[in-house]
Amino acid sequence: MNIILLGPPGAGKGTQAQRLVERHGMRQLSTGDMLRAAVKAGTPVGLEAKAVMERGELVSDAIVSALIGEELDAMGPTVGAIFDGYPRTAAQAESLDAILAGRGRTLDRVIELAVDEDALVERITGRFTCANCGKGYHDKYEQPKVAGVCDKCGSTEFKRRPDDNEETVRTRMAEYRAKTAPILPIYDARGIVARVDGMAAMDEVTAAIEGIMAA
Ligand code: AP5
Repeated sequence: MNIILLGPPGAGKGTQAQRLVERHGMRQLSTGDMLRAAVKAGTPVGLEAKAVMERGELVSDAIVSALIGEELDAMGPTVGAIFDGYPRTAAQAESLDAILAGRGRTLDRVIELAVDEDALVERITGRFTCANCGKGYHDKYEQPKVAGVCDKCGSTEFKRRPDDNEETVRTRMAEYRAKTAPILPIYDARGIVARVDGMAAMDEVTAAIEGIMAA
């Protein structure tokens, strides 16, 4: 099964994608994670993306679509894909169709996480991840079971994203409204969109997504 998790910054796309990976052995394809890895490694893509990401704007369609194609090629053909943060523009949606068709895959579901934008700033500015395994946490909503120790890998190192400050988050939300929300009608017209209340508790959101995938 191949699905898109769609929603503004902080809607819970990454959180839910990680849970689907653990439960179903699917693969999370997060263009944000791929770009952050490229920035860290200092690759040409990373050098081009760094300043754009720090401003909260969108990296070029060609770069992200190429990253998605490469990741899909590295996966087993039967492993399901969870697209997290991609596509984000009409051009990316068009590229994804071609990328999937070229690999004999189909897009089964687009799951929209519907959220109240005002609550998202708190979600985003409070989040942190394990520096070793990437497991996500939140100051208020999801702390490690033992303070300062990652539940998954036991690491004691954590990190926060440089673009998780209020000003950049507001720009990211404006980009979502202007460029990403308008792609929903493309998928609505295909009858593959399902909406989930992303303001519900994390476990409830997971249960709703599981229900959609099982239907
Ligand atoms: P990206 O990394 O994709 O960031 P984003 O879309 O802004 O999304 P986030 O990762 O901020 O939010 P999320 O929905 O995953 O929320 P999360 O699960 O962490 O992109 C970063 C940048 O890269 C972009 O700005 C752009 O520059 C570039 N980029 C990436 N892809 C691109 C593309 N395709 N094209 C062009 N440029 C691209 O949850 C947030 C917090 O809330 C967590 O702490 C979590 O614990 C908590 N939380 C989650 N769910 C709940 C809940 N139900 N209740 C309470 N708390 C919750």
